[in-house]
Amino acid sequence: MTVTERLLLLGLLTAVPFAAAAQDVDNITAAYSEDGRYFTEDDVPTYNIREDGTVDWPTYSGFRRYHSECYVCHGPEGEGSSYAPALKVSAIDMDYYDFLDVVANGRTKVTASQNLVMPAFGENPNVMCFLNDIYVYLKARGTDAVPRGRPGKRDMKSEAIREDENACLGD
Ligand code: HEC
Repeated sequence: MTVTERLLLLGLLTAVPFAAAAQDVDNITAAYSEDGRYFTEDDVPTYNIREDGTVDWPTYSGFRRYHSECYVCHGPEGEGSSYAPALKVSAIDMDYYDFLDVVANGRTKVTASQNLVMPAFGENPNVMCFLNDIYVYLKARGTDAVPRGRPGKRDMKSEAIREDENACLGD
C-alpha cells in the first residue's frame, strides 16, 4: 500500500480539494507587475484592482476595447447573449492560450437550428494589439473584482505600454 492509499484510508487526504481551490485563486491573483501590467505566477496577464477601486490601465483599456469589438455578439460587460457565450466566464474557465487561439483563428459551430460564427480577428490590429487588455478586463468581471459599468479611477498608461501599442499598430 502506498502512502497516498494509506492516507486515503485514514481519511487524511480530505484537504486536497481545498488545496486545489487555493491554486485556482493563485492563478488569477497578480504575482508581479511590469511597466503597469500585471501577471500571475504562471506569467499569464491578469488584472490588479487596488483597495480604493483604482484599476490597472490594461483592465480599463480592455473595458473600452471589449465594448467596441466584442459586445455586439457577447453582450455588454461579458455577460453573454442568446447568440454568444458569456466571456466573463470563459476568461476564468478557459486556458489563456486557448482563449487567444479562438480570438485569432475564430470558431464555427453548426447545429441543426443555428450557425454560430466567432469571426477570426487575427488580422485585426484593433483586437490583436489589445487582446491582453480585453482578456484581463473579462477576468476581472468574472471574479467580480470590477463592478459593471465603466471603471472610475484608473492608473495612467505607462510609457512601455504606449510604445508597445504604437509598435503593434505600426504607428
Ligand atoms: C459576430 C459575432 C461575434 C463577435 C463580434 C465576437 N464573437 Fe466571440 N464568439 C461568437 C460566437 C457565436 C461564439 C461561440 C462559437 C462556438 O460555440 O463555437 C464565440 C466564442 C468566443 C470564445 C470562446 C468562448 C468559450 O467559452 O468557448 C471566445 C474566447 C471569444 N468568442 C472571444 C471574443 C472576443 C475577445 C471578441 C472581441 C474581440 C469576440 N469574441 C467577438 C461570436 C462573436
